[in-house]
Formats: sequence, C-alpha cells, structure tokens
Amino acid sequence: MKQIVAIYPGSFDPVTNGHLDLIHRGCKLFDRLVVAIARNPEKDASLFTLEERMAMLKAMTADLDNVTVDAFEGLLMTYCIEKNANAVLRGIRAVSDYEFELQMALMNRKIEPRVETVFMMPAEKYSYLSSRIVRDIASFGGPLSGLVPELVEANLRRRFAQKQAATTDIPIK
Ligand code: PNS
Repeated sequence: MKQIVAIYPGSFDPVTNGHLDLIHRGCKLFDRLVVAIARNPEKDASLFTLEERMAMLKAMTADLDNVTVDAFEGLLMTYCIEKNANAVLRGIRAVSDYEFELQMALMNRKIEPRVETVFMMPAEKYSYLSSRIVRDIASFGGPLSGLVPELVEANLRRRFAQKQAATTDIPIK
C-alpha cells in the first residue's frame, strides 16, 4: 500500500503549542511526518539558531514514533522530492492566512504537481497564536503560559535575558 509521507515546513522560531497541535493531528493522518525547518542563510534574523530550533522540536516530538525533525535549504519542492514526500502539511488559523497559503500551495503545485498541499486547522484556542507574537510577548517579559511548552518558554526567557545583558554592556558615550 502507498505510504503517505508529509513534510510540515516552517520557520519554527520558536515552535509554539499551535505548531505542536498541528503535528499531533498530522501524525495521525500520515504514515510519516517530517517537520522541516527552513534554513535561510541570507535573511537570518531568527531569534534561535537552526540547531536550537531543531533541539526544541526534537524534544517536543520525541514521543511521536512517525515524526522526525529535519532542516532544509532552498526550494521546498526540491526537498519534498529528495525525501520521497507526497504531501506538504500547512496550518490555517484564520482567513487572513488563506491568501498567502493559497499562493504558496498553487506555486508549489506548479513547480511540482506530484506533491499535494494539505491544510489543517489547529484548535481554536491557538487561532491567534504565532511565533512572531510569542517573540514579541517574550521580548517584554509578558506571560507565555499555554502558548509554548515550558522548555521553549525557558529558552525564550534566557535568550531575551542574554540580549538585554548584551545591550546594557554597551558603554554610553
Ligand atoms: O513558518 P513560515 O515562515 O510560514 O514558513 C514558510 C516556508 C518556510 C514554508 C516557506 O517560506 C518555504 O517553503 N520556503 C522555502 C523556499 C520555497 O520553496 N519558496 C517557494 C514557495 S512557493
């Protein structure tokens, strides 16, 4: 029987409970699910390094037998073919996500018609959650409980404390 291998691509900077909700839903639907972190060396303004993002995702998915975590560079469709994947999983939280996701899905289909994009909705309680909002809240020391796993929260607190220490180290002339 044909195995359905899906790639769940994203920046995951950092992984949120919304991403994890989608991973849990996706791994029930597909035979194998590869969570693939996009590496973009040109515009690397990410808060966490690729290795840090990967470590967090691996820790949070260690109990899921058919889920692996990987990284990719370049076109998603090239990576899908390399991995023998037949599907891409993306989450849609609200109508506002739809336009960009539609554009990406249709462009990916044009590049590689053998790969289907499958959209899933995370639980409603995560519909307003994004990595960008999490970074923003964390940068001001705001509450993160329920938004990210404890490990990610601890890493966010540590990263912003490091940033703060780095800026206060600069002597004012
Ligand atoms: O978490 P994000 O930032 O929404 O993820 C976007 C991502 C990484 C899935 C998208 O930018 C991507 O697929 N990048 C790889 C380059 C590529 O294939 N671009 C063409 C997409 S139509």
